Amino acid sequence: MPFVRSACVLVLSAAVAVSGTVAATGAANRSGSTIGSQGAGDPYFPSQGNGGYNVGHYDLYLRYTPSGQHLRGTATIQARATKTLTRFDLDLRHSMKVSSVWVNGTKAVAKQPASRTQELVITPKHTLPKGQQFTVRVHYAGVGKAIHDPDGSLDGWIPTSDGAFVAGEPQGAPTWFPVNNSPRDKATYRVMVNVPKGLAAISNGALKSRVTKHNRTTWTWKLTKPISSYLVTATVGKYKITRGHTGDGVPYLIAVDPSQQADSANVLRKLPRILDFFTTRYGKYPFKQSGAIVDNAPYVGYALETATRPIFDRAPSESTLAHELAHEWYGDTVTLKRWRDIWLNEGFAEFSAWLWDEHSGGQTGAQHLNQLMSLSANNEIWNPPPGNPRTNDQIFSDSVYERGAGTLQALREKLGNKTFFTIMRGWVAAHRYGNATVGEFTSYASAVSHRDLTHFFHVWLYKNGKP
Ligand code: TRP
Ligand code: ZN
Repeated sequence: MPFVRSACVLVLSAAVAVSGTVAATGAANRSGSTIGSQGAGDPYFPSQGNGGYNVGHYDLYLRYTPSGQHLRGTATIQARATKTLTRFDLDLRHSMKVSSVWVNGTKAVAKQPASRTQELVITPKHTLPKGQQFTVRVHYAGVGKAIHDPDGSLDGWIPTSDGAFVAGEPQGAPTWFPVNNSPRDKATYRVMVNVPKGLAAISNGALKSRVTKHNRTTWTWKLTKPISSYLVTATVGKYKITRGHTGDGVPYLIAVDPSQQADSANVLRKLPRILDFFTTRYGKYPFKQSGAIVDNAPYVGYALETATRPIFDRAPSESTLAHELAHEWYGDTVTLKRWRDIWLNEGFAEFSAWLWDEHSGGQTGAQHLNQLMSLSANNEIWNPPPGNPRTNDQIFSDSVYERGAGTLQALREKLGNKTFFTIMRGWVAAHRYGNATVGEFTSYASAVSHRDLTHFFHVWLYKNGKP
């Protein structure tokens, strides 16, 4: 295996650090501890994210070679300690082997404990005082490899015949970079990817440069608005790139796998109009760039709303394109606080696909809702309730999408368009580049509409079975 050499380095540093690490684990949650916890407290994904610091910016340099799936990286992370730290974690799957870690330019002790498959435990030479800004640099390499989510789906760095389909919801980001993988720790990104000449590497935000040297090309991308780590991509493959502007002047960059060009052209042509339409309903487009990535990886089985530029595993349908573009407002700008708040992402995006259908002369929102309500009470579509999917393998269940969309259409019919869209716009504006819970939305809707919506939301979001 190509990473045997760095694995040896790892074993050596592990031997030095091991006793202190094991002894201190129990102390991680005790107050007064100077150890950053190994999770961020999400009950659905307890070891996701870490405590003790917040990240402001990720600077990633990756080198990927599809033959052999060899991935090498250097991550430079700017963070701030939220308490005094003698030790902290980053999330990184052990398919990536760390060769060295530097904190503020000084070599740190780094360990990838076998029992905790996504933790990189870092002990800096010098204690980081609470409030201090610090820089972590991690050098790592390994075989680019996906993980399986609790529902069985592939997540993370998913190799394809010509590169990799890179999607991180809900758990995949640590398959390819060291990260504080909590959706609450938003950061800006610069992603540089070096790939064999002839391949493209597509990430989020603006394409800053494309430089070819020694038969390899480095693609540099920059995103200046803060986003959650599950929304970052660095997708590699053969791509045909087209660019333009929406009616509102937002630049778009669309990258399409040549095999998907014929099947996707008619739908992708609507991208600027869909974004302009959502802007009229939901308010200003929240990012400075837009676009799409259409790969040929149908075994992935889903699309993802990667920030500024959603990624599709095949030529998308019009409704899937509308769904993913709406996520730029609902999901990417206002993001769930915990995974149980997934309705704020999926219910809103699916409702938006209904809205686009209505706007473009298809079925109205009311017709979509009627159709949903015509399904029998014992149809599987009604459970789990979208406001509480209960287990981590149910966050992407049909109920969250369809009953979730129906919730918003029912709210629209109850309050009328004027109040309903005031709520939809105000909600994004209030939480722009932040996070929120389902409870915060229901309170907000009640406050703006001057109505007590407790019973309505109980029936639609929390009660078992058909509303
Ligand atoms: N959030 C994606 C969407 O737009 C769906 C998704 C992401 C997904 N990761 C997944 C679905 C894993 C199933 C399994 O709807
Ligand atoms: Zn979605």
